[in-house]
Amino acid sequence: MPGKNQFVYNKWMVVELEKKKDVFLQTAYMNGIPTEQRAFGIVVGSGRKGQTYLYWDKNSLYQLPVSYYTPANDWCNSPGYSENYIRFDRPIPATCLECHSTYAESKEKKDGGTVFNKKSILYGVDCERCHGPGAAHVAFHTQHPEAKTASNIISAKNLSRQQRLDACAQCHSGLRKHTQPAFSFTVGQKLDDFSTPNYDVDTVGNLDVHGNQYGLLTACRCFKMTAQLDCSSCHNVHVSERQNMTAFSQRCMSCHNVNGVAHDSCSYKPPTGIILADNCVDCHMPLLPSKKITLKLANESTVEADMVRTHFVNVYQEATKRFVEKSR
Ligand code: HEC
Ligand code: HEC
Ligand code: HEC
Ligand code: HEC
Ligand code: HEC
Ligand code: HEC
Repeated sequence: MPGKNQFVYNKWMVVELEKKKDVFLQTAYMNGIPTEQRAFGIVVGSGRKGQTYLYWDKNSLYQLPVSYYTPANDWCNSPGYSENYIRFDRPIPATCLECHSTYAESKEKKDGGTVFNKKSILYGVDCERCHGPGAAHVAFHTQHPEAKTASNIISAKNLSRQQRLDACAQCHSGLRKHTQPAFSFTVGQKLDDFSTPNYDVDTVGNLDVHGNQYGLLTACRCFKMTAQLDCSSCHNVHVSERQNMTAFSQRCMSCHNVNGVAHDSCSYKPPTGIILADNCVDCHMPLLPSKKITLKLANESTVEADMVRTHFVNVYQEATKRFVEKSR
């Protein structure tokens, strides 16, 4: 955690982060006078990129003003909040937990706010969110320990391409417009019957690279020109393969060859010292700045964009230049 446990907005406004008797708190100070203090209720995010903290007010959740941004190991203004003013008032809807937890029972209030049943919340993204409800599966195998084939659980292998994509798209296609309550979709069903995308797949230029891996991937030629490419073509979701560019590049090469003459091989002639097969990713799926998530760090005066891995696989001349420069 950062050395200095405060976020300075300007010379009048500061948020202090502190721990008192096992409780983490964020306290707002205006001209040195404490004005609002709230305790951390729920932590959202593994910390891979960052973490946002929510607080309880009765049975409703709100976002705390300050978040943590991993790449800089520093505090930042929480996403959705201005970097110029302390706010505690962003209400958290069920859809936020729909992507960031396994289950949360909730009711919408007349004023549009949301009340949660605190005891119902299952943290983390569990097997069930991708394989369907597993209670019956667990019960079956407890009673029939001799059974070797999985029953009463959805096997990803038996799903169609769209069903497999929908299993990931429920959380990885950006913000969607819900036509059914949160948590009503289960794997195997048609996602568009529960929520509709709020972007136009044909205008990729305007699509934000943050959180919409599905929208970007399905717009690129690797996807359009094949019948089988889906998220599992590159990701093994049961293990983290972060930063393992050679492993990812192997998956590209299951369809593309390198230094070949075929039209589907890399046509780039790299300077000596660069081996294409080591890292297709940084040239063809570069990190690009998010248009949606921008933040200001506690010790910086500028506002920066979060960098996200685009899933629109393509030729990126600028990224190629940067990669070649960096590899020298
Ligand atoms: C219930 C929502 C949900 C579903 C369903 C889901 N994801 Fe995710 N996924 C997330 C969230 C949230 C994160 C960010 C977690 C974090 O770092 O805090 C994430 C992170 C990831 C990452 C980055 C992990 C890393 O270690 O770098 C990959 C890759 C990924 N998901 C792939 C998939 C694929 C493929 C599927 C479908 C088989 C899928 N996810 C289904 C919510 C979901
Ligand atoms: C983020 C989504 C996701 C989560 C969470 C997840 N899985 Fe999977 N799982 C998949 C996908 C996608 C496949 C198919 C992989 C492939 O096609 O190669 C799969 C395959 C499997 C298989 C092989 C049989 C089959 O269905 O094809 C087993 C067994 C399995 N998962 C068990 C689990 C268990 C147990 C958990 C919880 C500890 C879990 N999975 C969590 C997405 C997920
Ligand atoms: C449509 C699904 C979805 C919704 C709704 C959503 N998120 Fe996320 N969020 C994701 C996914 C997927 C990732 C990781 C992938 C990425 O960075 O593109 C992520 C990443 C994050 C991270 C960074 C975690 C990390 O270390 O990777 C934080 C913090 C976060 N979300 C907070 C929130 C909060 C707070 C809300 C509600 C106000 C929210 N998200 C709503 C899907 C969602
Ligand atoms: C399932 C097979 C498959 C996988 C896996 C795959 N691709 Fe492709 N890719 C294709 C096909 C097919 C095309 C279209 C070729 C054509 O237009 O003749 C394509 C097109 C491309 C293009 C040209 C894009 C354009 O719009 O002109 C690039 C660059 C590319 N792929 C790089 C990659 C990289 C890098 C990876 C790994 C991260 C990858 N591909 C993974 C099948 C695949
Ligand atoms: C052609 C290969 C390929 C396919 C297909 C693919 N991904 Fe990825 N994905 C990658 C690579 C490479 C990375 C970067 C890994 C790293 O930086 O360690 C990545 C990173 C991610 C991340 C982390 C994002 C970030 O900015 O850190 C998420 C989330 C993710 N993928 C989800 C998905 C989902 C969901 C799908 C299906 C819609 C999918 N991916 C399909 C290759 C692929
Ligand atoms: C140093 C950056 C770099 C690396 C590494 C790299 N490429 Fe390329 N690739 C390019 C550039 C740039 C082009 C466009 C052709 C040119 O400008 O010479 C290209 C062209 C391609 C094309 C043809 C695209 C088209 O529309 O004709 C494919 C397919 C491709 N690369 C796949 C791959 C695969 C797969 C890997 C990894 C094994 C890889 N590339 C590694 C930079 C790179």
